[in-house]
Amino acid sequence: MSRQLFEAAREAMRLCHAPYSDFPVGAAILAEDGEIYSGANIEVASFPEGWCAETTAIGHMIMAGARQIREVAVIAEKMDACTPCGGCRQRLAEFSGAETKIHLCDANGVVKTVTMAELLPLAFDSEALK
Ligand code: THU
Repeated sequence: MSRQLFEAAREAMRLCHAPYSDFPVGAAILAEDGEIYSGANIEVASFPEGWCAETTAIGHMIMAGARQIREVAVIAEKMDACTPCGGCRQRLAEFSGAETKIHLCDANGVVKTVTMAELLPLAFDSEALK
């Protein structure tokens, strides 16, 4: 993973709005267009209505016109190797391939790299309809 992708995730984490959990998270996506799209978690007073860093990053990628994720970096200030939640796994899978790499980071860099297939085995695939 490039240092640039890691730093984009770390920078994004600083922009989080997480006053309720106090658990800042940053994510950065390298997309098929070669650009990096980043995001942080954004919480609201009605707790379930907030959303994750990965979701913010996906929104930025989609609105820039890109559709395919090449690599992802995720970092959480208070956890080494924070894994994406269930909902974000499905959202990431929508725009990834089975071999797309998700880099789980700490403050210094990558701690563990997993593929999308490892992160979301037996993923629902609407293209597999009979
Ligand atoms: N969160 C993320 O942004 N990404 C993850 O991968 C895990 C959890 C956020 C959601 C919420 O704002 C806070 O972390 C605590 O769950």
